[in-house]
Amino acid sequence: MKEILDAILSADSTSADFAAIKLPESYRAVTLHKDEEQMFAGLESRDKDPRKSLHLDDVPLPELGPGEALVAVMASAVNYNTVWSSIFEPVSTFGFLERYGRLSPLTKRHDLPYHVLGSDLAGVVLRTGAGVNAWKPGDEVVAHCLSVELESPDGHNDTMMDPEQRIWGFETNFGGLAQLALVKTNQLLPKPKHLTWEEAASPGLVNSTAYRQLVSRNGAGMKQGDNVLIWGASGGLGSYATQYALAGGATPICVVSSPQKADICRAMGAEAVIDRSAEGYRFWKDEQNQDPREWKRLGAKIRELTGGEDVDIVFEHPGRETFGASVYVTRKGGTIVTCASTSGFMHQYDNRYLWMSLKRIVGSHFANYREAYEANRLIAKGRIHPTLSKVYSLEQTGQAALDVHHNKHQGKVGVLCLAPQEGLGVRDAEFREKHLPAINLFRELDERNVKPGRDI
Ligand SMILES: NC(=O)c1ccc[n+]([C@@H]2O[C@H](COP(=O)([O-])OP(=O)(O)OC[C@H]3O[C@@H](n4cnc5c(N)ncnc54)[C@H](OP(=O)(O)O)[C@@H]3O)[C@@H](O)[C@H]2O)c1
Repeated sequence: MKEILDAILSADSTSADFAAIKLPESYRAVTLHKDEEQMFAGLESRDKDPRKSLHLDDVPLPELGPGEALVAVMASAVNYNTVWSSIFEPVSTFGFLERYGRLSPLTKRHDLPYHVLGSDLAGVVLRTGAGVNAWKPGDEVVAHCLSVELESPDGHNDTMMDPEQRIWGFETNFGGLAQLALVKTNQLLPKPKHLTWEEAASPGLVNSTAYRQLVSRNGAGMKQGDNVLIWGASGGLGSYATQYALAGGATPICVVSSPQKADICRAMGAEAVIDRSAEGYRFWKDEQNQDPREWKRLGAKIRELTGGEDVDIVFEHPGRETFGASVYVTRKGGTIVTCASTSGFMHQYDNRYLWMSLKRIVGSHFANYREAYEANRLIAKGRIHPTLSKVYSLEQTGQAALDVHHNKHQGKVGVLCLAPQEGLGVRDAEFREKHLPAINLFRELDERNVKPGRDI
């Protein structure tokens, strides 16, 4: 591993140098163990502790298949799917690996008694498999997390529609929270040159998801002048949705749960911010019944902030707790676009407000290669910025996942894999300098106030 790291850290390593490096037989990786699937049985979600289920193990190097690349991972990031995986909710990820393994002898490699997690990476290509022409050893890359087979016609208009669509490092093995990772080369994107490894690794999954969900015609197709209600606006997805709304000439109405998070939204440039804790919204009277007066109270707050207008788009992901309110506050003809259900997936809403006011609910999930490419391109051009607030070592991944699980983080949380320290990997210092305040925004605000938001 030292030879790999030395080559990456050296300024003049060539592609041939990388191709000549002898690969190790094993590597360190953050894993789940199949025989621990039931370890949290009977516990409340909140009490399931990722530090207990996530292990740092030496695992064998997988065989490289056609159309694939082996990447030396300098940095990765924690996503909410790391949390879901580590608490085995809503289902154990080993079921995904078993199903994938039944597809072909090649996919059988993924069905193992351990699962290497991680759906983001920034690093350097070490080897490419048969049939790969676009990438070569030594290329500095980030990876998006869409894994597709594309053997069916269904995925050829929009690869997210492939029946064998999976999220790499969640529904497949050999993810990015490790020293090495195995990806399909149609997951690779050029690493933005002005960013460090950990900054470059952090936007991937959430940035691409927010791009499709909000901007793409496959999602809400946001346009200039739209009012966009963004739940969790300083969180992983929300911190990118807020930037897309601002950069696209829309008006974000940011919902957060603390004054500190409200400050972050204002620092990004948002003016309309709602602190849901201070407002004390109680959309549910009890387990079964919602309180429409509380939806109306949210709607009135939105009108107060917008000068009397309702929202064109709601950027939804909290799910059960907020969905009824989201459907209610959307303007006539508007769109509720959802990609998740953090607080519960059995939603309840008053359908009269949907059909009578001709609203649409749109489901959105990750992004196709083109959308992920566009989202990464905007990062590379300095139009959208990473929202990295804190960086952990590979050994501390369990703690990082616990912090995200308990909503104690801002924006994105990074993880150093092979990178020995933060701050490495910048290839265009001049361009970086221009955008430094925006790149450091979340880190600086996190260091300054450190007060976590209300636990979910
Ligand atoms: N389908 C996909 O492709 C996709 C991609 C990425 C993520 N996701 C899913 O989307 C969800 C959010 O991911 P993320 O990375 O943005 O997570 P995150 O960084 O934890 O941010 C989510 C934010 O949502 C807010 N929130 C949480 N529970 C809430 C509730 N009950 N009511 C109102 N607001 C609530 C919190 O903000 P405040 O406390 O400040 O309000 C939190 O910071 C997760 O379930 C994740 O698995 C799906």
